[in-house]
Amino acid sequence: MGQALLGGWLDNGHAAKTILVVEPAGLPPPLDTVAVVSDASQIPESFKPAVIVLAVKPQMLAQTLPDYARFGDAVFLTIAAGKPLRFYKEILGETATIVRAMPNTPAAIRKGITVCYATTAVNAKTRALCASLLEAVGLVEWIDDEGLMDAVTAVSGSGPAYVFLLAEVMAAAGIRAGLPEALANKLARATVAGAGELLNTSAETPTQLRNNVTSPGGTTAAALEVLMDDKRGISDLMREAVSAAIKRGQDLAK
Ligand SMILES: NC(=O)c1ccc[n+]([C@@H]2O[C@H](COP(=O)([O-])OP(=O)(O)OC[C@H]3O[C@@H](n4cnc5c(N)ncnc54)[C@H](OP(=O)(O)O)[C@@H]3O)[C@@H](O)[C@H]2O)c1
Repeated sequence: MGQALLGGWLDNGHAAKTILVVEPAGLPPPLDTVAVVSDASQIPESFKPAVIVLAVKPQMLAQTLPDYARFGDAVFLTIAAGKPLRFYKEILGETATIVRAMPNTPAAIRKGITVCYATTAVNAKTRALCASLLEAVGLVEWIDDEGLMDAVTAVSGSGPAYVFLLAEVMAAAGIRAGLPEALANKLARATVAGAGELLNTSAETPTQLRNNVTSPGGTTAAALEVLMDDKRGISDLMREAVSAAIKRGQDLAK
């Protein structure tokens, strides 16, 4: 995710020389035009960051964050799932400026969506600075209730995986119905990608788009009757899946 953001900034014309990356494994081309150090102790004294983007795994934060407490003038923009603002303040200090953000992996192709949260103490200029960094990889939305961040994570943060799973299970069902594996995979991939692009470019709601391809008594209607079944349909399953992701987010916060 950090690399996707970096790629977006470079594509958007941010000068490589204004960015310093801390990454133990270094950076692959074409991102390696940016200065990299393997840990925070190697950040030169002269480097005064305006924004510190935290893109390590949530489990790594407790160990990583104390190294950055010395950059008290910077805004901390964190994309880690789960960890609440109070976690950062406990390590960085009560006066630290923190913006919590939840991007998703389509950020890698600049088609992500990120939801941000900050307290009212974070001013408009700082919010705009963080939003401009995140807009390099897609859309940006703000929420004013941190409690909604786990639901955001469960819908858009984890959501791309649900869509990839849909492609997997569609292909598997096609194979089961007798299609050659390669063809079933190609059909599922192209269908999910094409439908996603249609949704992306159309002004119609998902419901309208679904209705457009569903003739009464037709084949799509027969399939949707199963998928939309009251008792074992996809709605209940998705609600359960989102609840499980929310619960995991709450556990990570501890
Ligand atoms: N993936 C998603 O869909 C998604 C969506 C929204 C938010 N996020 C959040 O984004 C963050 C990164 O997730 P990810 O999926 O991109 O994980 P990832 O691929 O494992 O990336 C984490 C990176 O941090 C590096 N790293 C480890 N220790 C470090 C340290 N002390 N200082 C600097 N860098 C260090 C890792 O290097 P090594 O590989 O060498 O350990 C790795 O390159 C997580 O907090 C996650 O919650 C992810």
